[in-house]
Amino acid sequence: MIRILGIESSCDECSASVVSGELGTYKVLSVSTYSQIKEHAPFGGVVPEVASRNHLLQMQPVMLDALEKAKMKWTDIDAVAVTNRPGLIGALLVGVTAAKALAYTLKKPLIPVHHLEGHLMSVFLSRTDENPWIPFPTLVLLASGGHTQLHAIQDSPSKWEPTILKDSLVGRSLDDAAGEAFDKTAKLLGFPYPGGHHLDAASKTGDRKKYDFPRGLERKDNFDFSFSGLKTSVANAIQKNPPANAQDRADFAASIQEAILDSLISKTLRAAQEHRVKSIVIVGGVSANQRLRERMNAESKVPVFFPDKEFSTDQAAMIAAVGVNRFYRGEATSDFLELNGFAAS
Ligand code: KG4
Ligand code: ZN
Repeated sequence: MIRILGIESSCDECSASVVSGELGTYKVLSVSTYSQIKEHAPFGGVVPEVASRNHLLQMQPVMLDALEKAKMKWTDIDAVAVTNRPGLIGALLVGVTAAKALAYTLKKPLIPVHHLEGHLMSVFLSRTDENPWIPFPTLVLLASGGHTQLHAIQDSPSKWEPTILKDSLVGRSLDDAAGEAFDKTAKLLGFPYPGGHHLDAASKTGDRKKYDFPRGLERKDNFDFSFSGLKTSVANAIQKNPPANAQDRADFAASIQEAILDSLISKTLRAAQEHRVKSIVIVGGVSANQRLRERMNAESKVPVFFPDKEFSTDQAAMIAAVGVNRFYRGEATSDFLELNGFAAS
């Protein structure tokens, strides 16, 4: 069993976590996350410079908190794993620099991790990868604030090559991400940032059929998504019929959510069928959506798995767990002084 300290600072969550494990076992010993939502909410979205500055303030406290919750000393850590791509470059560099300083001081290896591989990993946290109830091959829908993509994954995480994201990609959004579509349309309705869970909550009492918003690339015979037309259509509808009360907002919320979910669900189910998978996994912030969970469970012929809600949105446990795999596969490096962060994926 090794113990990895994971660090995540790619966007507006500053997070550290200790995960212990071996190949195929990822036990979360602690997670400490400072969410910067209240720092960014006044601006209606994430401001990169505000994010970087807050990561600088929060990085050390969250690392110390994660260590304390895991009842460990610095020297109990076997390696450090850090998100180094993709994301806001200034924010990433705070995590990467902290991780390099820590690994250098402790004389331990450092493992750079792709944020999206972390999301793929989030459903395996605190489980073993021989676990019979996530059968492979599986089709993963990764739906977050920055990305929406489909991956056909043949094997359990311990077998994943460093090129897993590229090798398994079968579809992606050509413009906005699903989470971005939730956030931008929620903003048009006057909900605070980030709007995804507000839209989720408001839609519970709304009429899903009141407005017929476009389902992007519906008739296209591929597994790509498009959400930018939806945003324009919602903006026009709101201008024509400004919501006057909570019920009006709920009707808009329910109709918007149904359009986003119809796109996500129809493409995911079709890709699952074409790739003949034995299960479906849904990860990323949007996987916290209540109706998405209900509809997928009802509409899929193969079993559907979601991460625990605390692991749907960004946190460092998923980064540390990727670190466990890399460490055992001999992919941790002691030659890390040149390691950099990268905005693009
Ligand atoms: O994975 P994540 O924490 O960060 C990124 O890597 O982007 O995803 C954040 C996204 C936001 O767009 C947020 O509005 C959305 O996930 N989200 C939701 C819900 N909870 C979070 N979208 C729909 N329904 C939810 N319950
Ligand atoms: Zn994320």
